[in-house]
Amino acid sequence: MTMKVLGYAAQSAEVPLAPFEFIRRSPRPDDVVIEVMYCGVCHSDLHQARNDWGFSQYPLVPGHEVVGRVASVGSNVTKFKPGDYAGIGCMVDSCRTCHPCQEGLEQYCEEGNIQTYNGVDRHDHQPTYGGYSQAIVASEDFVLKMPQGMDLKGAAPLLCAGITTWSPLRHWNVGKGSKVAVVGLGGLGHMALKLANAMGAEVTLFTRSASKEADARRLGAHHIVLSTDDAQMASVHNQFDLIIDTVPYAHDINPYMPTLTLDGTLVYVGLLGSIEPPVSTLPLILGRRSVAGSCIGGIKETQEMLDFCGEHGIVSDIEMVNIADINEAYERMLKSDVKYRFVIDMASLKA
Ligand SMILES: NC(=O)c1ccc[n+]([C@@H]2O[C@H](COP(=O)([O-])OP(=O)(O)OC[C@H]3O[C@@H](n4cnc5c(N)ncnc54)[C@H](OP(=O)(O)O)[C@@H]3O)[C@@H](O)[C@H]2O)c1
Ligand SMILES: [Zn+2]
Ligand SMILES: [Zn+2]
Repeated sequence: MTMKVLGYAAQSAEVPLAPFEFIRRSPRPDDVVIEVMYCGVCHSDLHQARNDWGFSQYPLVPGHEVVGRVASVGSNVTKFKPGDYAGIGCMVDSCRTCHPCQEGLEQYCEEGNIQTYNGVDRHDHQPTYGGYSQAIVASEDFVLKMPQGMDLKGAAPLLCAGITTWSPLRHWNVGKGSKVAVVGLGGLGHMALKLANAMGAEVTLFTRSASKEADARRLGAHHIVLSTDDAQMASVHNQFDLIIDTVPYAHDINPYMPTLTLDGTLVYVGLLGSIEPPVSTLPLILGRRSVAGSCIGGIKETQEMLDFCGEHGIVSDIEMVNIADINEAYERMLKSDVKYRFVIDMASLKA
């Protein structure tokens, strides 16, 4: 049986999000139907609602930090039963057969992963709609188990902000003795501080916002560097094994490159687009340094991250909002005025 649900959608790049009624598909044998309880608000939601990246399809129902209660399951589902708490992140399907998919790196599927929203379902070719809605339907292979006892509101942002910072930390083997820096203290940045600290690294925050210093220390930073202060930037040359750059917009990374150690890597997770202004190759050549990128994380590593957070008592620092206030939340996010992730209480979405 298909299901009529209410959500919030952008109808074009120019208009605010507003209530939108649509149909969720009839569950397939491997599908899980989830009543959405909480949905985190990612800067990617704003980028896509406003077509910043140029590939938005409307109507667009954002939301890929989804936590809820399983309402029903298809006949072949084995991992979930009604009443379980479950999560959905940034993708809901992939080809499942290519090399990256076989390796559990579905985000790098050679045919493209199917995004939770602003995607097209591989089977019925219908648009995918995200978690700013009453319910969501997805294959159990792309649904995460929420650890027992975890605060579900604070857990929602782990499904994107958490995994997007966890994955590069793991890929570049961060652990005890590593020196990690994070650029930008927003949703992704604050999770990077918490996770890198819990992995045993020495953690530095680069920020434009001096007012965030006390919070940064509480969230796990051992050092804070004001990126607008040249003397402070020069004082940390040759330090970092890994820099995770979470800034959503083009910005000059030249001052960051000499702060990497020999063989150090600056990994972009924020900017989707051209690096501007141009980057000098001098620090790359003289220090065998790299500039890299990283996309969310695979399903297996997302579950590992959730379980790690469960064991270490890590969730996101959140501000709860009603869905009717989503457009105002976007404006505040644009001003870096959020501590440190908005989460929508989906109970506020009334038919
Ligand atoms: N790679 C992936 O798979 C992936 C996954 C999720 C999100 N993303 C992207 O990651 C980016 C960050 O998302 P988010 O939700 O963490 O955003 P956010 O909460 O808005 O945080 C971004 C932070 O970057 C800093 N910043 C903002 N504008 C800046 C500018 N013009 N110059 C320098 N610094 C600036 C601010 O920190 P300070 O005030 O501390 O300077 C801000 O708090 C977005 O572009 C999002 O689309 C990518
Ligand atoms: Zn996101
Ligand atoms: Zn694939």
